[in-house]
Amino acid sequence: IWSDMPMGPPDPILGLTDAFNKDKDPKKVSLGVGAYRGDDGKPFVLNTVRKAEKIVLEKALNHEYAGIAGVPEFTKLSLSFAYGKDSPALKENRVAGVQTLSGTGACRVAGDLFARFRGAGSAIYLPNPTWGNHIPIFKNAGLDVRKYRYYDPKTVGLDFEGLMADVRAADDESIFLLHACAHNPTGVDPTQEQWAELSKLMRPKKQTPFFDCAYQGFASGDAEKDAWAIRRFVDDGHCVVLAQSFAKNFGLYGERIGALSVVCSDADEAARVASQLKLVIRPMYSNPPVYGARLVAEILSDEALSVEWTAECKAMADRIMAMRSSLRSHLEGLKSSRSWEHITEQIGMFCYTGLTQEEVLKIRADSHIYFTNDGRISMAGITSSNVEYVAQSIYAITG
Ligand code: LMR
Repeated sequence: IWSDMPMGPPDPILGLTDAFNKDKDPKKVSLGVGAYRGDDGKPFVLNTVRKAEKIVLEKALNHEYAGIAGVPEFTKLSLSFAYGKDSPALKENRVAGVQTLSGTGACRVAGDLFARFRGAGSAIYLPNPTWGNHIPIFKNAGLDVRKYRYYDPKTVGLDFEGLMADVRAADDESIFLLHACAHNPTGVDPTQEQWAELSKLMRPKKQTPFFDCAYQGFASGDAEKDAWAIRRFVDDGHCVVLAQSFAKNFGLYGERIGALSVVCSDADEAARVASQLKLVIRPMYSNPPVYGARLVAEILSDEALSVEWTAECKAMADRIMAMRSSLRSHLEGLKSSRSWEHITEQIGMFCYTGLTQEEVLKIRADSHIYFTNDGRISMAGITSSNVEYVAQSIYAITG
């Protein structure tokens, strides 16, 4: 029955990890998937996570199923992490929240909820470009995926005029996916003034701001600052939908830990939304795993551990910023003909280099450096030992 089945293409991001693992060249460098590495190039486990693991182990908890909505303590803490401890929406019990399989799972559950209650084929607008997986997630959920202008290759920055024009032209009540901070893949974010203007434009049109927040604390090193846009939209009265991931900021990639929340008009509406979220989740994967939720809950519920986590997260953000400066100065030191200013201007895990697909493929073939075909480099994979080699390899192709 499967004899005519065609071979599927490798995933544009995760497929690179497979190709990298097969490569035998000792000089190879992996800058594809966004996963943080220490300066030794090795996967990094946060000290606070190690401490939380110990606490969880000592509690000798059982392995019963979580509820469909996950570990309640985790979800509660996750929401106050994003919306703020004093958030009136949380105090008024008008936020429906569930634990999800990281940010991807949150996006998919939201996509299914939209398809059910806005109607299959409803439009969802994604920034152009966006994280590659957003497109199939929402297509598979049955939504009509459209794009809004976001990145301007000429300025290597935000096309704010284009963005505003596309929001203005979109139907009332359309759904807009917004990257809360550290836009993936470009590393280009709106300023606070621009976020405020966007919020003001969307509010009378009753458009739904759907934030994907995968880097809170990781973008600037300050989790409060990174949540600014989300909180502003809630303050402005939007019924925000929010996907959260704890993969990068807590280094819990493989634990698949995240949350989806929906800000509602009142507690009764929130209860109804929560009930529908459970109906989406139950036939999809029944209920989420508990381990990562327990770890995040231990850290966020403990004052001392939270303070230590903030410092650790900032250290990761700082190392990435240091690598940005180093990559840029190496390229400038080689007297590159191109401007590399954007390397230090963009924020978050990625640098959107502006390299063409042809250049990317050439660097991969010649130097065994793996990054996505759109020219996105995971800065988290750059270390003091490989930065010079990466700069030289880019220079060899671009001049
Ligand atoms: C990335 O963009 O590299 C990460 O978000 C990992 C992934 O799942 O694609």
